[in-house]
Amino acid sequence: MNSLFIVFIKSISTLFLSYSSYQPTLPKNITEGKALMEAKCVKCHTAKKVEDYSLLKWEKTLPKMIRKAKLGEADQTKIMAYIRYVIDTKK
Ligand code: HEC
Repeated sequence: MNSLFIVFIKSISTLFLSYSSYQPTLPKNITEGKALMEAKCVKCHTAKKVEDYSLLKWEKTLPKMIRKAKLGEADQTKIMAYIRYVIDTKK
């Protein structure tokens, strides 16, 4: 009876600990898009800030820059996900 109680307490505290250290992780596309931008978009100019342009402006500019950076459509999707995320969370 006693040991059962200890097991019960242990599992409750484990649950509590994992809950308190829980941090929502961003979708992979977003973190990969950010990393791509930091790595590939600084060769010709300094890093451009997402906040400095509207979503519409990004939608027009990014495909041009993707070509300049010699990246593909998959990378464009990831970078666009990151841009949308920054613009959405800024509001
Ligand atoms: C091969 C060089 C090169 C690479 C790589 C490059 N850019 Fe550019 N970028 C330019 C040049 C040149 C301009 C300014 C002339 C223009 O707008 O085409 C520019 C301008 C910009 C602008 C400003 C556009 C405007 O109209 O004000 C943004 C935003 C931008 N780049 C984002 C990016 C992003 C994001 C990437 C990575 C996907 C990237 N660039 C990679 C050369 C590059």
